[in-house]
Amino acid sequence: MRYKKGLFYIENVSAKILAKKFGTPSYVYSYDKIKNNINNFKKNFKTINPLICFSVKSNSNLKILNLINKFGLGADVVSKGELIRALKAKIKPEKIVFSGVGKTIDEIKFAVSKKILLINTESENEIIEIEKIAKKNKKKINIGIRLNPDIDAKTLKKISTGKKEDKFGLTEKKFLELLKKYKSSKFINIICLSVHIGSQITSHIPYKNMLNVVKKIIQQSKYNFKYIDLGGGMGIQYGNSLNNLNYSKYNKLIKSFLKKNKSKIIFEPGRSIVGNAGYLISKITYIKQTSSKNFVILDSAMNDLLRPALYGAMHRIIPSKLSRTRVLKKHEFVGPICETTDKFLTVSDYQKLNQGDIIIICDVGAYGMVLSSNYNLRPKPVEILINKTSTKIITKRQKLNNII
Ligand code: LLP
Repeated sequence: MRYKKGLFYIENVSAKILAKKFGTPSYVYSYDKIKNNINNFKKNFKTINPLICFSVKSNSNLKILNLINKFGLGADVVSKGELIRALKAKIKPEKIVFSGVGKTIDEIKFAVSKKILLINTESENEIIEIEKIAKKNKKKINIGIRLNPDIDAKTLKKISTGKKEDKFGLTEKKFLELLKKYKSSKFINIICLSVHIGSQITSHIPYKNMLNVVKKIIQQSKYNFKYIDLGGGMGIQYGNSLNNLNYSKYNKLIKSFLKKNKSKIIFEPGRSIVGNAGYLISKITYIKQTSSKNFVILDSAMNDLLRPALYGAMHRIIPSKLSRTRVLKKHEFVGPICETTDKFLTVSDYQKLNQGDIIIICDVGAYGMVLSSNYNLRPKPVEILINKTSTKIITKRQKLNNII
């Protein structure tokens, strides 16, 4: 924790000052953390030299994407909007992959016109549409085919994507059938096998199982994929959990996979790049004491940060100012929204808090602001980027007038 003289700092600015200057709730991102996360990610996979395509869905702020580009990453996009944003951030089209089960014809045409690296297809009907577009344009279009390896990612059920009952990708059988059918198409160039089994994965074992299925498919098909896109999913430490993905083991598994398969690896990390770089600074509106617990009612809510309500996700909540006095009573941190699930965290005890105090919800850089809404007609928070002592507003707080 970065406390100095009892005050919590993000880079060189205290949360207390940030709250005073920008109001609450505020999303704040650390430049340094994003930079370090990218450098560490690169270092962890240095020996396989992958193409790293940042998963824009995790944080699509233009200024954050500018950093992603500055530090040399490409992008994994899932909509025309994300593609336009990524291009606006100057990410090169040849470093962009387009994923998703339901790309519309308009989205596919747009992606083709921008000459992105490849489109990761997820159904035969999608391939048929791409072939039609290619014929019309007299072009050969680069695609990947997404495999559903039927692997349990051992993560939250709601963010698993690689089991056969999930809507994503194609079964081994269908994958091989489509490969055979389209590999000599005049209009389609199958250059990639893609796979993504889920998010917030903290063990290398599901990845090992996934790679085994990929190996098997390649052996059976005898096809040479220029790229193997292994998706993202690398977990980070939330709450008090100390589970952490062992990157060195994952890297070793891929290295041994590459001995037989001479493909270029693509990754699509989101959370591992920006997750721990974001903070949601909030103010305590009221503390409601009941016989069994204290409700700490914040000015941020599930419309600002949906993960706890949607997935039961746990985010650490820390005070902006440390106190030695403990209150040995259950504390439930909640938002003001008229929904019982509008709660962030319950803890058995906490330091003494007061109305008006500033607290910080941690690790909200991924799937935080992007999942925010105007539910209860609440304006969306401001987003701030901090680099040492410099603070920059990168998205203005929504004005109530503009949403009424
Ligand atoms: N590639 C594909 C095809 C994906 O579907 C995803 C995430 C990623 C890459 C990036 O995964 P990451 O490295 O960030 O784990 N809203 C949820 C997470 C949903 C993830 C969706 N797909 C959450 O808040 O935990």
